[in-house]
Amino acid sequence: MIRLESLSYRYAETPTTVLRQISLTIPKGQLVGVVGPSGAGKTTLAQVMSGFIPHVFGGEVTGAVTVAGRSVRNTPLPLLVSDIGLVSQNPFNQLSGAKFSVAEELAFGLENLGVPRGEMVSRVDETLRRLRIAHLAERSPYQLSGGQQQLVAIGSMMVMRPGVLVLDEPTSQLDPAGSGLVFDALGELRERGVTVVLIEHKLEQLAEVADRILALVDGELRMDGPPSTVLAADELADWGIGRTRFTAAAVAAATHWPCGRPLPVTLAEAAAGFAEGAP
Ligand SMILES: Nc1ncnc2c1ncn2[C@@H]1O[C@H](COP(=O)(O)OP(=O)(O)OP(=O)(O)O)[C@@H](O)[C@H]1O
Ligand SMILES: [Mg+2]
Repeated sequence: MIRLESLSYRYAETPTTVLRQISLTIPKGQLVGVVGPSGAGKTTLAQVMSGFIPHVFGGEVTGAVTVAGRSVRNTPLPLLVSDIGLVSQNPFNQLSGAKFSVAEELAFGLENLGVPRGEMVSRVDETLRRLRIAHLAERSPYQLSGGQQQLVAIGSMMVMRPGVLVLDEPTSQLDPAGSGLVFDALGELRERGVTVVLIEHKLEQLAEVADRILALVDGELRMDGPPSTVLAADELADWGIGRTRFTAAAVAAATHWPCGRPLPVTLAEAAAGFAEGAP
């Protein structure tokens, strides 16, 4: 569970408040998508939820943040990271720098936790298979493509089995097949009761997988609701977030979209609406 109460944040030595009065509660096992234009504060929000703010970045936090029953401010970072995984926007920064192969990289966090060898090997193998990167197991993490590094960074958090997983644009360098794998894996984690916060620009996939969408604009939480409501909202285009191509098709079809029917955000909703509107 994640709870923010009137959370505001300013980076050290800067005058601008980059998160403003954000209040929300994310129950255990919910998969929440975060959308917003560049500079909206999405990465900052991810760092707040995972404790890197204020423990690493400092700055001025007002309000309260509770994750998995712990006050983020009052809990030391090592204790927080045992239950919260953050996949950062730049996968290169996420690599430990201490390991020479992808398999060792995935085992790194488990070694630090003192997980027994047998379990470590089986968790690493499962993660390699799940993300279809078993063929990279012996490769150096530094000789991979950006997309492959992104899968390793995601794997290095998944293998830890945190109760809360926060991912900052995890599919930005992945092709459609790679993105699909990540979305499927996150859907499965949610089924297992993991709370997932996913910052993502791929609105069609978010609409399929998310329980809820937060729209962050200029540091403010402007919308918070189900994908069918938030992603179909007119304001999204004005805020520079865009629309799903299904919503765009229905808007472009104008009078051919059945009168009074909500705009679609998924293929199934679009197909049903156009079928109804067909002469
Ligand atoms: N370390 C920092 N020190 C000072 N200001 C920062 C720092 N990091 C980010 N900011 C500022 O905070 C605001 C929000 O940045 P943030 O990176 O959270 O946005 P974002 O929504 O993740 O954008 P993007 O989509 O480009 O990743 C921006 O105005 C940015 O310039
Ligand atoms: Mg960002």
